[in-house]
Amino acid sequence: MAAIAKTIVATGTSSGLGFELVKQLLAQAQPYNFILGARDTQRTQAAFEGLKYDTSKHSLTILPVELSDLTTVKTFSQKVLDKVGQGKVDYLLLNAGMWKSSTDAGPRGSKWNDSYIVNHLSQHYLIHLLQEKLEASQSRIVVVSSGAIRGATDTSALDEDAKAGSTPVNSLYSATKFIQLLGAHWWHRQLQGKCQVVAVSPGMIPGTNLARHASQTIPANHPDAKTIAEGAQSIYRAFTRDDFPEDPDQIFLTSWGEWWSKDIYSLSLDKKLQDKWCPSKEDIERDEGITA
Ligand SMILES: NC(=O)c1ccc[n+]([C@@H]2O[C@H](COP(=O)([O-])OP(=O)(O)OC[C@H]3O[C@@H](n4cnc5c(N)ncnc54)[C@H](OP(=O)(O)O)[C@@H]3O)[C@@H](O)[C@H]2O)c1
Repeated sequence: MAAIAKTIVATGTSSGLGFELVKQLLAQAQPYNFILGARDTQRTQAAFEGLKYDTSKHSLTILPVELSDLTTVKTFSQKVLDKVGQGKVDYLLLNAGMWKSSTDAGPRGSKWNDSYIVNHLSQHYLIHLLQEKLEASQSRIVVVSSGAIRGATDTSALDEDAKAGSTPVNSLYSATKFIQLLGAHWWHRQLQGKCQVVAVSPGMIPGTNLARHASQTIPANHPDAKTIAEGAQSIYRAFTRDDFPEDPDQIFLTSWGEWWSKDIYSLSLDKKLQDKWCPSKEDIERDEGITA
C-alpha cells in the first residue's frame, strides 16, 4: 500500500540547511507535500526544480514570505491554510534565521530590529496564525535553534539587543536565538497535549549563507565544524525522535542527537521571561500596525 503523504510547512528552506533538508526528504520513499515560504520564490522554485525529484510522489508549493514584514507572514499563513484545506499539517519547520552584528532602523517603522523580527517575532506570529490547524493536526513544530543561545548570559540586556537601532553588538544573534528558544518553551506549554514542540541545534555549519551580514565568520577549519548534509540530518532527527525525556522542559536536541541537559539553557526556562517575549496575536498586530 502506498504511504500517505506527510505535509510539511516550512520557513528558511530556500538555501543552506533548510534547502538541504528538503532535498534529503525528496529522496525518501515517504511522499511529502511541501508548502515552503521563501522571499525569492522564483530562485527557490528553480533550485528545487534543478533537483529533478519525483513529482509523481512529492508535491512542492513555494509561497512568498518576507519575514521582516509581518503583513507577508499573515498573507503566507492564509495561503498555507487555503492550500492545506481539510488536510493536516504534520510538521511546521521554523528554520529561517539571520546572523547580523548590527542593527538599523526597524523595518517598516517597527521598534524592533530585523534580527529579532526574523529570528523570533515573525515565526512566533506564524504559529499564532496557524494555531487552530496545528492543534487539529496534532502537528510537530520543529524550531531550529542554536548552541549560540549559551551566549545570552544576561537576560536583562535582551530588550536593548532586540531594539531597532541599538548599538551594534556581537551578542545580537545569541540574544535573538535565545528569545526564539523562550518562544519554543512557551509554545510547548501552550500546546501541551495537542502538538509536540522540539527545538534542535544543527551544529556548527560553516558552508551556509548564515554569516553573510555578520562581522565574524564561522571558521571552516573549526574542529566542531560539520557539513551541510550533517546539519540537515541533525534537524531531521527533531522530526523523528519520539524518546521524549520525562522532564517536560527537556525539548532541546543537540546536533549529536542527545536531549540537551537543562542546565545548558536554564535561563530560558524562566516562565515570566517566556511570557514577556511571547506576545499574543492581537498585541503583535496592534504593535506592528497589521490590519485585518
Ligand atoms: N550554519 C550554522 O552554523 C548554524 C548553527 C546553528 C543554528 N543555525 C540555524 O540554522 C537555520 C538555518 O541557517 P543556515 O545556516 O542554513 O543559514 P542560511 O543559509 O542563511 O539560511 C537561512 C534561511 O532563512 C531564510 N531567511 C533569512 N532571512 C529571511 C527573511 N527575512 N525572510 C524569509 N526568509 C529568510 C533564508 O532565505 P534566503 O535564501 O532568501 O536568504 C534561508 O532560507 C537558522 O535558523 C540558523 O540560525 C545555523
